[in-house]
Amino acid sequence: MKFLDLAKARQSVRKYLDKPVEQEKIERCLEAARLAPSASNSQPWSFIVVDNPKLKEAVAKETFSQLISFNRFSLQAPVLIILISERSGFLNKVAEAIKDKQFSLIDIGITAEHLCLQATEEGLGTCMLGWFNEKGVKKILNISPSKRVELVITMGYPESNQIRPKKRKSIDQIRSYNSYELQK
Ligand SMILES: Cc1cc2nc3c(=O)[nH]c(=O)nc-3n(C[C@H](O)[C@H](O)[C@H](O)COP(=O)(O)O)c2cc1C
Repeated sequence: MKFLDLAKARQSVRKYLDKPVEQEKIERCLEAARLAPSASNSQPWSFIVVDNPKLKEAVAKETFSQLISFNRFSLQAPVLIILISERSGFLNKVAEAIKDKQFSLIDIGITAEHLCLQATEEGLGTCMLGWFNEKGVKKILNISPSKRVELVITMGYPESNQIRPKKRKSIDQIRSYNSYELQK
């Protein structure tokens, strides 16, 4: 797929078929994620693939509650990928402090999108979840309390292959050349 077509085809998928995902497809998604750029090449990430049905159900249940149930669909996804931010190196920590920027979160976003774009290329659907009970997920997966779980990514074959129109700001609202002049 041409890159722009791939970017258009990637969308948050919240309905999945009851069909397992081939391991080689998951591995190619992880390979795309591994190749992502990061500040000082620190690669401050690790991934847990959760495909064991019982474990997966337990993790999915940490993404919603009775009151806030919009992530309930995660129960349907045959695979969950847990994205953990690892400590970046000393140099990066100093740079983050000096520049008052959290490079590692930028890095996590890039690697997550690499993974999701490759999944799209593989005919798979994904949805990044930022809303979940981090403590609960850590407990189930034996992740040390000192780590941060930044995203849970649902993955599976989409129920529909229809690409929804994207709800996005217009280009005039977000782009200007040479100085900050946006048409709001
Ligand atoms: C950091 C991040 C966190 C997100 N968290 C959730 C979430 O908890 N639940 C959900 O259903 N979608 C979540 N999304 C998906 C966004 O709602 C979605 O990307 C956005 O509405 C644009 O739609 P699209 O992905 O279909 O293009 C998240 C996306 C990102 C990038």
